[in-house]
Parts: sequence; structure tokens; C-alpha cells
Amino acid sequence: MAENKGAYYITTPIYYVNDKPHLGHTYTTVSCDVLARFKRLDGYDVMFLTGTDEHGLKVKQAAEKKGVTPQEHTDFFSKNFRDLAEVMNISNDDFIRTTEERHKLAAQGLWNKLVEKGHIYKDSYSGWYAVRDEAYYGEDELTVTADGKRIAPSGAECEWMEEESYFFKLSEWTEPLLKFYEDHPDFIMPQSRRNEVLSFVKGGLRDLSISRTTFDWGVKVPNAEGHVMYVWIDALTNYITALGYPDENADMFKKFWPADVHMVGKDIIRFHAVYWPAFLMAANIAPPKRVFAHGWWTIEGEKMSKSLGNVISPYDLIEKYGVDASRYFMLREVPFGNDGDFSDEQAVTRINAELANGLGNLAQRTLSMIFKNCDAVIPATSAFTDVDNALLKMIREELITHIRRELDVQKFHEALRYFKMAVDAANAYIDEQAPWKLKKEDPARMEVVLYTLAECIRCLGIVIQPFIPETSSKLLDQLKIDADARGFDALSTALVGGFTIDKPEGIFPRIERKDETEGQAA
Ligand code: MSP
Repeated sequence: MAENKGAYYITTPIYYVNDKPHLGHTYTTVSCDVLARFKRLDGYDVMFLTGTDEHGLKVKQAAEKKGVTPQEHTDFFSKNFRDLAEVMNISNDDFIRTTEERHKLAAQGLWNKLVEKGHIYKDSYSGWYAVRDEAYYGEDELTVTADGKRIAPSGAECEWMEEESYFFKLSEWTEPLLKFYEDHPDFIMPQSRRNEVLSFVKGGLRDLSISRTTFDWGVKVPNAEGHVMYVWIDALTNYITALGYPDENADMFKKFWPADVHMVGKDIIRFHAVYWPAFLMAANIAPPKRVFAHGWWTIEGEKMSKSLGNVISPYDLIEKYGVDASRYFMLREVPFGNDGDFSDEQAVTRINAELANGLGNLAQRTLSMIFKNCDAVIPATSAFTDVDNALLKMIREELITHIRRELDVQKFHEALRYFKMAVDAANAYIDEQAPWKLKKEDPARMEVVLYTLAECIRCLGIVIQPFIPETSSKLLDQLKIDADARGFDALSTALVGGFTIDKPEGIFPRIERKDETEGQAA
């Protein structure tokens, strides 16, 4: 394995346990998984965290509606998210639940630190609260409906709340946060979200109510009978709980904090890019290096919602396309950071064009020719022409450089565009070189061409592992590549020919369109 390039810590948001996993959650988690896998193969020591957010009024109300205890409710729903990780082939190193003891200790530890440093005071809260978002809103942010309902910008209905509460002195962090954003221009990405956060903070921050007394499903506030923590201060702390906080000398904390990337959806950027760094700075802890907010998926132009009955679950995707093709599609289709629209039509087109006809066909054509024309032995040769060398350079050296650069700024779609260009170049090379004709005309040249192609497939198989782990591993198995020769450092070595392969098997079947299947049946 390569030299160790250091530590890399990536997190998903922790998911609310009032919903089954759907395309949105799957998207966030898969994007993190790709980064985690990429960094491991690139020689980093990676910590990848996901989990569930289990406290708050919303969960309490959902459990009551079902007639179960909040703990029973959360046990059931949390498991759905663990299952999601398993079925989507997610390589998380830990799975955190905010109802775990270790988390309560961390949240209370952070709270105590904030009290100690004078950042928390007691007062009474009165204002508008949206249970659905678990968020407070200012009067000026709300719209009032004809029947007097107050609606938050997210569409959630707000209720008036008045209770005794502890407050975090967020108002004191307006200037330090603006300075922090200025000093760290890549802290919030993409740029459009950064602008949005900047203008929100420039408007001035109000102190934040951080405890509740009207229900008890939360982490207890230390030394304050009847108060539980506001669910967001509780939830955000998960990112340091998993590293052993409140022990700031814990090995994991020292090694992995500050996090490299908190991946979030655009709806929760404010919590991560405003509240979280303010809490951390107040507790004298470094803020994370980056918060990346991705966009939202709609389904054939509509918002995904239970009432419209168009919620796509990861299981629907897997059943139709398989795990790897689903992972590929989600990250290839939409520029990461933008909103995207999902349709089966687009998914089938993309998967067939780029996986079945692109990579799949390249591998199948090459390996079948080697199997038939070279007695199943990968040729051993070194008589490369300039054309062969140009292709090898592109796929062995240049491709990983492009992908590394794009993934460092979370441009998954760009990374995959470079990958597609490399596959297309290799497919064009087969067509130009026409190795099937060379068998009789120039068998030595045929061997060079087939070796070059086998080497391209090895390199393509290595670089694409983070996106399509299972299929790429099948491909590398067909080429008999050892498990310890699949890291990115193996790209600077060359395939040594002279060994025998098994009869090749297609890795990406073409997906039949619904209308094609129906047509055949008729
Ligand atoms: N519990 C909070 C996060 C706390 S992190 C300290 C939460 N949970 S959530 O389950 O509601 O959402 C988790 C993620 O799913 C968010 O990043 C959200 O943006 C994402 N998505 C939910 N619906 C989505 C789409 N339709 N499309 C893409 N992502 C979406 O918020």
C-alpha cells in the first residue's frame, strides 16, 4: 500500500428517525462513501461516520402517534439506516446514534464547556418554532396564510412557543464567523451556498435558544432540572462524540479533528456553517475544514413526498439498476451542489450508454478477444507505438490526477466525466486498431494492442473502485489483480503479462427499457 498521506475525516448528516431512507439520504451517504473509499485507496487513513439523530419533539410525536415509546421507535428506524448502509455497500467506520451513552456524555461535555466559558445564560424564549425543521424562525422570515398560519421558508408550519430556556450567545459570533469565512474561503461550498450563509450572518445573529422544557426526549441539560438540549446542539455534537469527545486527548480526536468534510443537504447548511462553528469556537475547538451542501432531487419534476406517493427508496433503485449502477447514476447525472431531477428514462439512458456500452463493452470485447485469440493468456509485450503510449499515459497517469483534483472539491460529476472520456478513448482505440483483423495480418501487433487494452482495463478498474466497488472488483478479479495491488499507487506499475484468465463474464448487463420489455411481451 502507498505511503500514508495522513488522516481524513468525513461525515454524513445523522438522519432523523421519523422516515425510511429514500433517494435523498442515499445520495448524501453514497457521495461520502465515494470520498472515503477514494481517500483510502489514495493512501489516507480515513474515518467515515454516519448515524441517526434520535431526539427532539418530532420523534417524540411520531412515537406517540404509533403508540410506542420513543426508544422503541428510534430502535426500529435507526436500523433502517444501518440497513441502507449495508445494501448500498457503504464503508462507514462507525455508526452513531444520539441515544447512546457515549453521545450523551459528549453533548453534556460540550454544554459544560460552554457554560464554563460564559457562553450560555438562562432567560425565557418566546417565538416561532417549526417542529418539522426543529428550527426557530424570526417573524420577518415567515409568511402568513389567509387563516393566520405562520409558514417557514421551508414550507413547515410554525407554532408560537413560550418557555424558560437556556440561550447560547450566538449574537457575539457574528464578527468572528465573518472573519472565519473570509480566512477560509473554501469552508462553505459550493460558492452559491457560501454567499447565502454570508448574507444571513451579515444580517446579524440573534442569541439561540438551546434548551426545551415542554418535553423530555433529549439529552438532559447538566444541573438544570426539566431542561433537555435543543436537538441541533445535541445532533451536531455527534461529529466529535465519535472521536472520543469530551476527552480532547483521545487518540481519535487528536488524529481526526477537525473534520475534512461535513457533507450536508442544502436545507441544513445554516446549522452546520453558522451554529456549529460558533459552538466549537466558543468551546475553543477548531471548526471543521469544509461544509459541502449538495442539492435536492425532485422526481420527474415534482418534490419527493409521501403524499404524492413518489418517494424513491434505495431498494427501488437496487431492484431496477443494481447497487453500482445506482451509485454511478446519482453522482454522474447532476453537477454536485445543484438540484437534480430523477427519472427512470434518464437513468436507463445513462447506465446503458456509459456502463453497459462504455466500460462493460470495453472489458467484454477485450477480454473475450484475449480469451479466444491468445489462448486466454494476457500477452507479454513491450513493443509499444506512440499511439499505444499516448493512451496508456492518459489512463495510467493523467486520469487519476484529474479525478483526484475534482474530488478534492467534491465535483463527482466532473471526475466521472474524465472517467468516461478515458473509456471512450479506449473504445475508440479498439475500433481504430481493429485487433480482430490483426490475428491473421500481424499477430505480434495484435498482442500489443490487446495488452494495451488489458492494461487500460486494469487502470480503469482501479480508479473507478470508489464509485462502483463491487463491479470494479469483479473486473479486477477477471484480470487476476491481487487485493493488495488495487491501491492508486499500483497505477505507477505496469501489468505483467503472461498469465491465464478465465472465460470473461459481462459486468454490466444492458437495462431493458420498460417499453421495450412491454413491446417484447406483446
Ligand atoms: N437530522 C438532521 C441532520 C442532523 S446532522 C447533525 C436532518 N436529517 S434528515 O434525515 O432530515 O436529512 C438528512 C439529509 O438528507 C439532509 O442532508 C437532506 O438534505 C437530505 N435530503 C432529504 N431529502 C432530500 C432530497 N429530496 N434530495 C437530496 N437530499 C435530500 O436533516
